[in-house]
Amino acid sequence: PGASEFEDWLAAERELWRRRCVEVLVRGSESLAHTGGTHEASALAARALALEPTSDRALGAAIRCMSLAGDRAGALELFDRFQARLAEELGTEPDEEVRALAERIRRQRGVRPEVTLTWPDGEPVVRPPLEGRAGEMGRLLEAVSRSARERRAALLVVEGESGVGKTRLIDEVVTRLRLDGVSIASARAVEADCAEPWSGVLAIARGGLLDAPGIGAAPPDALGALAAVLPEWSERFPGAPPNDAVPPGRALAEILRAAAEERPVVLAVDDTQWLDHDSASALGAILRDLSGAALSVLLAVVPHPPRAELDELRSRIGRDLSGEALRLRPLDRAALRRLAERMLPGYEPVAIDRVTRRVATDSAGMPLLAVELLRAVALGLDLGTISEAWPEPLRTLDQTLPGELPDAVVAAIRIGFRRLSPAAQRVLAAAAVLGDLVPAGVLEHAVSLGPDETGIALDELEWHRWLIAEPRGYSFVARIVRRVVERDMVTAGQRQRVLAAAGRPEPRY
Ligand SMILES: Nc1ncnc2c1ncn2[C@@H]1O[C@H](COP(=O)(O)OP(=O)(O)O)[C@@H](O)[C@H]1O
Ligand SMILES: [Mg+2]
Repeated sequence: PGASEFEDWLAAERELWRRRCVEVLVRGSESLAHTGGTHEASALAARALALEPTSDRALGAAIRCMSLAGDRAGALELFDRFQARLAEELGTEPDEEVRALAERIRRQRGVRPEVTLTWPDGEPVVRPPLEGRAGEMGRLLEAVSRSARERRAALLVVEGESGVGKTRLIDEVVTRLRLDGVSIASARAVEADCAEPWSGVLAIARGGLLDAPGIGAAPPDALGALAAVLPEWSERFPGAPPNDAVPPGRALAEILRAAAEERPVVLAVDDTQWLDHDSASALGAILRDLSGAALSVLLAVVPHPPRAELDELRSRIGRDLSGEALRLRPLDRAALRRLAERMLPGYEPVAIDRVTRRVATDSAGMPLLAVELLRAVALGLDLGTISEAWPEPLRTLDQTLPGELPDAVVAAIRIGFRRLSPAAQRVLAAAAVLGDLVPAGVLEHAVSLGPDETGIALDELEWHRWLIAEPRGYSFVARIVRRVVERDMVTAGQRQRVLAAAGRPEPRY
């Protein structure tokens, strides 16, 4: 009897410790994932799930990490297996929270896993992890959750030069918030938008707002105002009488108000320096009128050309508006080193040191260039054979011409290009010729591929972060990369054919 009592005690004690371990692992995983350490977070979640294969929280942490790492299909597969295991072993279901999370992952726009993991020749590729932004991520996420908690509008501004990582940072933030069930409306302005009244507000209205719960409760004339100009809104709200009496900015404000009643809302605008004047002023009005709403406005902006409306807005932070203004700096040595370690898995520490030093010099810590260089090194570029370093590391990338880039960076871009699948190379070349915000249909025409083939190529390009997608079309992640591709990878004949097929006499810059 004594022995069995002891065994019962031991079993109970083990169970208790196992639970505690799982708890600690899951919490660690959640907080790492929160600030960008997806890879490490993923390892912790996996250990938690191994210890307790039927833990909802461990499973939740695991699929969140997989989804953040871009492996949507893997996450859903894991969830399905978990669901089956629970049904079989316990006769239960995953809890509500995990099911909702899985549903949100399911609804995310799919990136095909087969293009995510290998180069066309079968070599594995490491997608550059987010490095060196834990502090910024933490501040932005905390500000959004404060705004949601206190029902107070907040303005978050992320400022920095081209290539420093603004788009990536707001992308990572928005992805996390979306997984948490926050409603997102996002858009990216391009240079041509500047002169187009309301283009920004309309892009925002097309950028996910239709998926936000609660919008149906907005006043009919607000819905009608968008329905009058945007087909997707008139399709969704056929009953709302189209009207053009309500200005789009006003309509957006009312719809955001209705959405924020239901769920916290984040309105994210990238490259805000190109926003048209009406839309920029509308953002100010929205923040004023919706000051008591769970709404965060997240703006990424290059400090030039200067925009008075935006300066005015930012100056309200800390006065009548809560929020954050962050200035992104180039990555420091430690972050570059971690990036090198992750992107060059088989390398010895000495080799990592050497590469890190060289990349730090050639990239001046600009993530755009650092990632390009490391990717090329992973594919065999020998930095040692390229002697010339960048003469002016601190010039802004937007003003840099391809001929002024360090040779190693240009070589890196070319190598990266050549390793894309043939279809992706064609699509990318066409995108370089055609300019900003090229719709998928136009690219399809320009390269004479079918919609499926084009779609797969675009996913590949998006996954490798050559292009960014927006409801209005695809753009290069960086102008300088576009210029290098256009200059070095497109022949005159190809250029002619692309322009003719797309029916465009001249590209849109
Ligand atoms: N903190 C980071 N860690 C790793 N890669 C990064 C980081 N920030 C940016 N990148 C990569 O650098 C490239 C340029 O970043 P991006 O966000 O487009 O710059 P910006 O929007 O400021 O011009 C992208 O490929 C992006 O994925
Ligand atoms: Mg950007």
